[in-house]
Amino acid sequence: KPIMPPDLSKCHDAKAPALDNHCCPPYNPSETISEYGFPATPLRVRRPAHLVKDDQEYLDKYKEAVRRMKNLPADHPWNYYQQANVHCQYCNYAYYQQNTDDVPVQVHFSWIFLPWHRYYLHFYERILGKLIDDDTFTIPFWNWDTKDGMTFPAIFQEASSPLYDTKRDQRHVKDGKIVDLKYAYTENPASDSEIIRENLCFIQKTFKHSLSLAELFMGDPVRAGEKEIQEANGQLEVIHNAVHMWVGEPCGYKENMGDFSTAARDSVFFSHHSNVDRLWEIYRNLRGNRIEFEDNDWLDSTFLFYDENEKLVKMGDCLNPTKLRYTFEQVPLPWLGKIN
Ligand code: C2O
Repeated sequence: KPIMPPDLSKCHDAKAPALDNHCCPPYNPSETISEYGFPATPLRVRRPAHLVKDDQEYLDKYKEAVRRMKNLPADHPWNYYQQANVHCQYCNYAYYQQNTDDVPVQVHFSWIFLPWHRYYLHFYERILGKLIDDDTFTIPFWNWDTKDGMTFPAIFQEASSPLYDTKRDQRHVKDGKIVDLKYAYTENPASDSEIIRENLCFIQKTFKHSLSLAELFMGDPVRAGEKEIQEANGQLEVIHNAVHMWVGEPCGYKENMGDFSTAARDSVFFSHHSNVDRLWEIYRNLRGNRIEFEDNDWLDSTFLFYDENEKLVKMGDCLNPTKLRYTFEQVPLPWLGKIN
């Protein structure tokens, strides 16, 4: 059976010490829940974060959208921190699955990881676009699979900008440090050029090894009533974790990026995930556009997101980004090499 959305009237204290365990949204029992319909907006093109840094017009829009999101009333579902809390709710055990009283809804460590985050970004991006009345607006992707994108994107590093976040590992995000895609709180002593090479090889290896079996890339199945198993995550999720750890503070709760409950409070979260989403799309293409799982327990897993109202979405409906009306600017794939 596919996983179904939780009963929203039953949100529990989350396992989120960094937020004093609170991340439930305000509950509105009269809220109508409707089926999601594919948008009819123009095709939006997501661009690399390191290449938009000189596009002042775009940056002004992005900052203005985030500024407006932060200025919404604290209990507004589009409010910046309410949006960040969505991640906490579905990652830090605020909801239990329907008809269970101890199986949490957890969107990591399984085949739900990529589609759930795809939708999360999609709605977030559309809300930002609405706030500035621009239906072509996109969040940039942090292109960490290419040399020029392997440093922390400068657009998030301007102290006076709404994209700035103080809770980061300053040793990493400052001064063009190269991200280590195998980072786990130990510094890699290799030289920059060596780390770049290791990163590219690692991505290449990841794709090569997982092309024939989607579980290896995407994560293992999880079905209604089943608890997640942390070791069941896919290789792309593992790489993604390293980037989270590398950005978050090295101490305490590793805020913001290093802890599920706070990660989405850092705007760079969405650019990081935009690249994860893009690598999934590349994986799809490399496999001849074959759908990863024909299993209805995957295709029919259902979640709720907030657009104008609560929207019910099925995982199987997000498999084609064009239908969600976004795509990625084509950039070189230096790691691709002789993958096929
Ligand atoms: Cu839900 Cu990058 O994590």
